Amino acid sequence: MNPIKEHDILIIGGGGAGLRAALSAAQLDPKLSIAILSKVYPTRSHTVSAEGGCAAAVGKDDNIKNHAEDTIIGSDYLADQDAVEFFVKHCKEEILLLEKWGCPWSRSADGAIAVRAFGGMSKKRTVFAADRTGFFMLHNLFERTYLHPNIHRYNEWYVTKLFTDDKGVTGVMAIHQKEGEMQAFRAKAVIIATGGAGKMYKNSTNSVIKTGDGMYLAYDAGAALKDMEFVQFHPTALPKTGILITEAARGEGGYLINNKKERFLKDYVPEKMELGPRDMITRAIISEYRKGNGFNGPYGKYVELDIRHLGEKVINEKLPQIRELAIEFMHTDPVKMPIPVTPAQHYTMGGISTDIKGQTTVPGLFAAGETACVSINGANRLGSNSLAECLVFGAQAGKYAATHAQKNKVRSPSAGQIKTETGRIEKILTNEGNENPFKIRDEMQETMDHHAGIIKNEKSLSSGIEKIKHLQRQFTKIKINQNNTVFNGELITTLELAGMLKLAEITLLAASRRRESRGAHYRTDYPKRNDKKFLNHLLISKSGGIHMTPSIKTEPVTITKWQPRERKY
Ligand code: FUM
Repeated sequence: MNPIKEHDILIIGGGGAGLRAALSAAQLDPKLSIAILSKVYPTRSHTVSAEGGCAAAVGKDDNIKNHAEDTIIGSDYLADQDAVEFFVKHCKEEILLLEKWGCPWSRSADGAIAVRAFGGMSKKRTVFAADRTGFFMLHNLFERTYLHPNIHRYNEWYVTKLFTDDKGVTGVMAIHQKEGEMQAFRAKAVIIATGGAGKMYKNSTNSVIKTGDGMYLAYDAGAALKDMEFVQFHPTALPKTGILITEAARGEGGYLINNKKERFLKDYVPEKMELGPRDMITRAIISEYRKGNGFNGPYGKYVELDIRHLGEKVINEKLPQIRELAIEFMHTDPVKMPIPVTPAQHYTMGGISTDIKGQTTVPGLFAAGETACVSINGANRLGSNSLAECLVFGAQAGKYAATHAQKNKVRSPSAGQIKTETGRIEKILTNEGNENPFKIRDEMQETMDHHAGIIKNEKSLSSGIEKIKHLQRQFTKIKINQNNTVFNGELITTLELAGMLKLAEITLLAASRRRESRGAHYRTDYPKRNDKKFLNHLLISKSGGIHMTPSIKTEPVTITKWQPRERKY
């Protein structure tokens, strides 16, 4: 084992939130040593695949009050309103900062930063760079980090463990995937920015790297996870691959059509139609399938997204990537034919519980982006708020982690902790079982698609929990074929799986505990929202060992100006 490495701040994750956090910390104090440990080369982080845009009230007819109100109503009143007010106040400055740094936002004819319509928003509020917004933002942030000599990079390093002592976080253990070395780090503060846990599901818009690693690390280290029952499904993904077809296609004027050639949303969200919120549109599509109004394809049911009427010029200028994706993956040119689309898991609205500063319940441990739950998204996130969340709360986590690092001395993980973690990895490498981790992963994903999908009920959730527990037991008998740590994809998959099996259990458990329907959490046995009992967050923490059933407690939602009322569009 190499000698322990030391930095003031460790950032796990090199996507939008992680890079923004690094820049914020580096600007606050150029003397701090900041390290980014990223499972993939940072420009391959999932932020790169964000398409439609990043929310900010920059339009002439818009303001932050509208943005706050839309977000809170969209959240079905589960968002903390102080967090939302803070968020909307800072979105615009982040957009302008990235503009200054060279992010090529699309412009309107008068040269202003253009905004497009998105679901559940009362104004055009989504700032964009064609339909490759995440790509441009991520590259912009990544390049910017090279201006700061105090930012260090550990590309393609996988963090296996967060170390803590009785005062808080002390460091991490990581594997350098290419070389195979295991390395312990110590630091004064750690920021988790590893994205969501979409790959618990098979049918997902998420890339293969989104395995909830940071959520599991934080949970294992004693931090609370918040509102894990709220999983967002995006209405328009390509069947089978789950590739996202951006909401911007509807924002620019696209229609959703059933097999009767009807714009069926007139029966569900007549005022908003294709610009209704995601939870409602997704359920409308499922309802159409149940009525027999879906198309039948080789990969199951679908509806059609028709953008032909926008014309080739607009499609090429504003939606070039979705044209490319539809041609490449569906052999369908949207200039000439509607695109087959169906809902897919898209976003983890719950996550590591943080306050507005990004601070978790473990001192010195911060989180930002999809992995965190501040909460501004509540029960249903509005599209394009997530990129803005990465910027606003990434900057916050960076700032407060830097302040924490300035005030505290570094402490080391103990030799015993390092030995135990090395031993755990060794045990996985040499386990003499007969279970295949890839098969367990497939079964977990099928279980989640089936039991924790768009429509839920107690019977299905309880049997989902039993199936996941069975898979957890199987996991103790796994066998992997490559027995060293050098470029060992099987080992990384197995470590990811260990975490996802716990997160899957937690997601199902929280969904079972929330006996109401709110936002994206829809239960046929409790079809109404119940503010009397459930206008609160569910916080889940480790209780006893990692294999024990977690403890659940509630925390009130912060209401400032917007009293809960019926959510109608
Ligand atoms: O449809 C989209 O472009 C997705 C955006 C988002 O989830 O924020």
